[in-house]
Amino acid sequence: MSRTPLIAGNWKMFKTGPEAVAEATRLVELASGVANTDIMIAPTLLSLPLVSGAVAGSNVKLGVQNLFYENEGAYTGEVSAGMAKAAGAEYAIIGHSERRQYFGETDDAVCKKVKASIDGGIIPILCIGETEAQRDEEKTFSVLDKQITNGLNSFCSRDLDPLVLAYEPVWAIGTGKTATPEQVAEIHEYIRSLINRLFGNELAMSIRILYGGSVKPDNVSELMSLGDVDGALVGGASLDADAFIQIIRYDR
Ligand code: 13P
Repeated sequence: MSRTPLIAGNWKMFKTGPEAVAEATRLVELASGVANTDIMIAPTLLSLPLVSGAVAGSNVKLGVQNLFYENEGAYTGEVSAGMAKAAGAEYAIIGHSERRQYFGETDDAVCKKVKASIDGGIIPILCIGETEAQRDEEKTFSVLDKQITNGLNSFCSRDLDPLVLAYEPVWAIGTGKTATPEQVAEIHEYIRSLINRLFGNELAMSIRILYGGSVKPDNVSELMSLGDVDGALVGGASLDADAFIQIIRYDR
């Protein structure tokens, strides 16, 4: 089965509205000829409606970096899947390690957010990954087991059709320390086999598993050549359209 690669940029808490519009406009120009690769950027929520205008009609799609699982209500500071969608988001990054680390996001909340995304017509990108200490203690597989099993616990495989997974080892995020191709291949194969065990072969074969953690123009081709790597979730290098387009065009 062929899985369309997804190259996604997580802009985290960078760029004002005008800066985001300028970068997105440049990316739209650079990416206009790209076919057979899905492209997404996730600016801050404040920039989202502005960037939505800049990418309208192009092959650059938008995502949010988080959303809340209720549709509306007294939840200060939050936005729902419906609100994100109305502002132009087609994807939502869910359970990023920075949200788990700094905002106390639990697997239970992550699970509800994945469900809210799918129910709201937004493609969830569920992030999983171990810390350096967990890897050193040889807990990588058990951590991933727990994050996937608990993060998807109320689903059947039919519900999960739109789901994307992103393996982001925490020790490789923003550190310049990319996981080796051997490490990435081993983990991605493991994740796909776990999805097979939990939800069946059809979903395991169709689900896209992205790698994230210091993906750069000079390491993306090798990572994307691995059989179970279906795309990249890019932080720092996605902030500059000239670098990001090199990642998007990894096979050229
Ligand atoms: P870097 O590419 O900056 O390491 O960030 C990865 C990431 O966290 C994407 O979500």
